[in-house]
Amino acid sequence: MTPIIRTVDLRMAYRVGSADVPVLRGVNLDVPGGEFLAIMGPSGCGKSTLLHLLGGLLQPLSGNIFIDGTDLTKLNDSGRTEVRRKKIGYVFQKFNLLPTLNVRDNLNLAKKIHGNGSYSPERTNEILDMLGLSEKTNHHPSELSVGEQQRVSIARAIINKPRILLADEPTGSLDSGNSRMVLKMLQDLNATLGQTIVMITHDYDAASAAARMIEMRDGRIVLRVEAAALDSKYEGFL
Ligand SMILES: Nc1ncnc2c1ncn2[C@@H]1O[C@H](COP(=O)(O)OP(=O)(O)OP(=O)(O)O)[C@@H](O)[C@H]1O
Ligand SMILES: [Mg+2]
Repeated sequence: MTPIIRTVDLRMAYRVGSADVPVLRGVNLDVPGGEFLAIMGPSGCGKSTLLHLLGGLLQPLSGNIFIDGTDLTKLNDSGRTEVRRKKIGYVFQKFNLLPTLNVRDNLNLAKKIHGNGSYSPERTNEILDMLGLSEKTNHHPSELSVGEQQRVSIARAIINKPRILLADEPTGSLDSGNSRMVLKMLQDLNATLGQTIVMITHDYDAASAAARMIEMRDGRIVLRVEAAALDSKYEGFL
């Protein structure tokens, strides 16, 4: 079966001053539909860059990115935006909430832009409740703790039940209780909706919530491990 996400020899560089600094050096990744995949690796190895490329937020230097059979690298900005709106929910490492909107309106805007219009206010309430945000609906992002902002960004990404969820360190700012709650929620979405999840994390416990883990170093995938085997595989590797 064709994977829902496929990258072929994906390369990316950022221009810094007059030099192009390579960040991804040939990433080949297949994610079958319905998989929950974790991406790990040291700071600066290119994890967020890879996720941005998968979400159509950047264009690569070379290589291909297939999302559900469509090659994003062959599309223009609006074509990539269309694919993202239809198929992808994105949890940004830096949240990217709209500062002038309160929590409820941040979610409602996502429903309006990306949704098919069929979701009721109950859907917003249900998500807010699930993420422990019911008391915060009228707060603006600046009036929320960092962990609360992170949970709003997760709520916004999942509200339309996207087929693919790309989550950049979704538990990075959460305490252990909230981390467990979010990971359990992602596992449930994966199991009940068959949602494909790609999650970046620095945390081995979080990674073991996924079914498979890849490790990146210096712009390349250096290790692929079934998460169930993560503990034993990692002995001697770290
Ligand atoms: N817009 C940019 N312009 C220039 N260099 C950039 C830009 N964005 C990222 N980089 C560089 O690309 C490299 C990879 O960045 P990226 O954000 O993908 O890393 P990461 O693996 O997500 O790190 P972290 O775990 O700290 O979030 C880093 O060295 C970073 O400095
Ligand atoms: Mg990052």
